[in-house]
Amino acid sequence: MTTRNTIAPLPIAKLGERILTQKASEVPFEDFPLCKAIVDQMLNTLDDQGQRIGLAAPQVFIDKRIVIFRIPKSIHSRYKDAIIEEVPFTVMINPLWRPVTDKIDQGWEACISLPNLMGIVPRYTEIEYEFYDLDGILHQRTASGFHSRVVQHECDHLDGYVYINRMKDLSSLAYEDVALKNSKNSDDIEVV
Ligand code: NI
Repeated sequence: MTTRNTIAPLPIAKLGERILTQKASEVPFEDFPLCKAIVDQMLNTLDDQGQRIGLAAPQVFIDKRIVIFRIPKSIHSRYKDAIIEEVPFTVMINPLWRPVTDKIDQGWEACISLPNLMGIVPRYTEIEYEFYDLDGILHQRTASGFHSRVVQHECDHLDGYVYINRMKDLSSLAYEDVALKNSKNSDDIEVV
């Protein structure tokens, strides 16, 4: 029986909080069992944010290299211009990634730590990444398109970067309601 719904959501670290600019600490292997409770709290917090994709531990003031994300099938129609693949709920501990192409794609991103804002961010279109799950099992995956973008965005949080640090042109930075109103095709807007 789960008690997840009775846990209060964790406070969100918003832009300006020092923890968002710091490199998060690796989780020692022996501490993996302790991460289960943290992940439950993170998932509860993510769910409380509505239809968001991912959350990194520093965004809830936890100095650990932990990310959770999921790319549900339900968002496919919204993002029909992007390369979308469904990705089941994933817990990543101590994740690493590397690009497998030089190709860069420009796409809209948003972030729970920068409420109501979005901007166009360059990301590698294809990556390889690896991470440990809560049981200490190493997983290796490849990702492209939106999946690749999400992993790069979330892993950036573990190294002290938010998406605006990656933007080459800040002129696209906009409030979500304005960007959606002005976009000819709001289906191409990806919200991480
Ligand atoms: Ni974010």
